[in-house]
Amino acid sequence: MSDIVCSLLAGKEYKWVVTGAAGFIGSNLVKSLLGANQYVIGLDNFSTGHKTNLEQIKSLVTAEQWSRYAFIEGDIRDSEVCRRVCRGADFILHQAALGSVPRSIADPITSNESNVSGYLNMLVAAKDADVKRFVYAASSSTYGDHPALPKVEERIGMPLSPYAVTKYVNELYAHVFERCYGVKSIGLRYFNVFGPRQDPDGVYAAVIPKWAAAMIKGQSIYINGDGETSRDFCYIDNVVQANIRAALADVNKFSERVFNVAVGQRTTLNELYREIASSLRDLGQSFSDQEPVYRDFREGDVRHSLASIERAERCLEYKPSHTLREGLKTAMRWYVDNLK
Ligand SMILES: NC(=O)c1ccc[n+]([C@@H]2O[C@H](COP(=O)([O-])OP(=O)(O)OC[C@H]3O[C@@H](n4cnc5c(N)ncnc54)[C@H](O)[C@@H]3O)[C@@H](O)[C@H]2O)c1
Repeated sequence: MSDIVCSLLAGKEYKWVVTGAAGFIGSNLVKSLLGANQYVIGLDNFSTGHKTNLEQIKSLVTAEQWSRYAFIEGDIRDSEVCRRVCRGADFILHQAALGSVPRSIADPITSNESNVSGYLNMLVAAKDADVKRFVYAASSSTYGDHPALPKVEERIGMPLSPYAVTKYVNELYAHVFERCYGVKSIGLRYFNVFGPRQDPDGVYAAVIPKWAAAMIKGQSIYINGDGETSRDFCYIDNVVQANIRAALADVNKFSERVFNVAVGQRTTLNELYREIASSLRDLGQSFSDQEPVYRDFREGDVRHSLASIERAERCLEYKPSHTLREGLKTAMRWYVDNLK
């Protein structure tokens, strides 16, 4: 992947802002951009991100590349901080938000503050700084209760959680900011992203890191529902590629502004369990052959999710570099190395 990012950015030097830089997706964006010799400003308030992610990036790039990085510890709910980071920037890759459907059900107000008010602060700051492009993390949760598969961008249902509302509001604001102020934005509807540095800890951890950590530590694996719930799991390198392509794309050539970012393949939780176990076994991990424990379905979860990636392929020239299995190889290596 970094080959793709390096070739897209070869001979170019831009200044990028990555919000949520201490988080999973943000830290991977920072790593790839620095690896392609770009200037990067990261912003994070460490609400769910970690300083160790920043330290890890430092160890993965050269000293020269690291010298092009500046980090601001701050909160997107503070409009002055947003102004400060956007000043002089070419591109904004806005990732900072409180993820997790259950978190938003437990505390909708806090999710709204970061995901809607914080987002709006960033959009206003991007407009005032006259940036070339505002790329933001949208979400597959926007499809809500629409039953059609695969998911195509123009057909959405009613949201199933406060989190989904916040992510849809992001799209509406981006649309209105282009109409009213000419801000060029692209929203990327991520579908279940996974990869190195995705947090395995806490009640709101995503399924792949949570299961990987449990298997490595010999703990029980819990499956919500019957295990036939399915998702389009997307390796982080595909997401990084989509962000860079979205920033550089000539938006005058197409009118679409929201894109699915996924692989276009569906995997059930039962299949995922077997894939993770097999990936870990390939890495020499031995663990007991215990069966997963099935429990109730989780509130707010959609039953099936599968993306059409035709729009991103056509407009952004996006082409996923990793399938689930290919991504799991690298991701599981990271968990084995980092969870001891
Ligand atoms: N991981 C996925 O599968 C997935 C799927 C769809 C959408 N998304 C979206 O992608 C983005 C990144 O998600 P992630 O998986 O990397 O999560 P993450 O929790 O690892 O990263 C989010 C980062 O944002 C920071 N942050 C949160 N609120 C902030 C605030 N008010 N001010 C400054 N920083 C703040 C956190 O500290 C964290 O470092 C989020 O917008 C999320 O909603 C992720």
